[in-house]
Amino acid sequence: MARVEGETRELDYSSTFRLFEKLASNSTPSSSHAATVFADLDDAEHRHAAEIAEAMPIIAVGRSSRVVDIGCGGGRWATTLVREIDPPVANYTGVDFSPTLIGLARQLPLGGTASFHVMSADALDLNVLGHGYTHALVTALCLYLNDSSVDAMIGSVSKLVRPDGRFYLREPVSLTGTRLTLIDEFSERIGDSYNAIYRTLEDYEAMMTRHGFDIERSGFLSAPAFHRHATTRHRYFLGIRR
Ligand SMILES: C[S@@+](CC[C@H](N)C(=O)[O-])C[C@H]1O[C@@H](n2cnc3c(N)ncnc32)[C@H](O)[C@@H]1O
Repeated sequence: MARVEGETRELDYSSTFRLFEKLASNSTPSSSHAATVFADLDDAEHRHAAEIAEAMPIIAVGRSSRVVDIGCGGGRWATTLVREIDPPVANYTGVDFSPTLIGLARQLPLGGTASFHVMSADALDLNVLGHGYTHALVTALCLYLNDSSVDAMIGSVSKLVRPDGRFYLREPVSLTGTRLTLIDEFSERIGDSYNAIYRTLEDYEAMMTRHGFDIERSGFLSAPAFHRHATTRHRYFLGIRR
């Protein structure tokens, strides 16, 4: 177990993969969201409602929106975008590296508007995903990725999204001014160990800008559910594709 401040350390994806597969295999389509945020269902639903209330006006989808969601888990955003808002979006595409989470997402009653694919975030298949999306979502994914993977993922997102398209990225960031990397950190809440990187907000802004997104807006999510830790806090970035 290590907590590394400042210097860059590489994460081992095989343990992250095993963790999400294990969490997913103990879940149902309606409870997978709780598993992926390491919370009980009430807490997860409260968090989700809080993010929807704050983020939906920022993301600003409409009836003709085409949304791609990288690291979609069991389809939390899909249910909201396809079933819960009026009007629903025209099309939603979710991607995750966990086949079991994607299997759960495919069982959601979403009709033909939503599709889900098993893909690693750093090897997105643009031939399968297509292009011309009006919106991209990435929430609580990058903390599990090494820098080169975040860079590759954002580079792919910039090809998926059309000019003027909106990219909502929301990740826990370090509040100390330097990155924090956790390796094999045991969590009572998860009942297992996990690996994660908490970058600075400048790190994310630089990567988005480098790949063709102007940062139109950025801020901390205000709900207490998103700032439970002293040294990290969830921050959103809204990029507009140049
Ligand atoms: C904390 S969950 C967030 C899920 C969803 N974005 C949300 O906000 O509810 C992190 C997700 O990232 C996925 N993930 C982690 N590493 C990944 C990778 N290398 N490629 C694709 N998905 C990955 C996990 O399987 C999990 O579904």
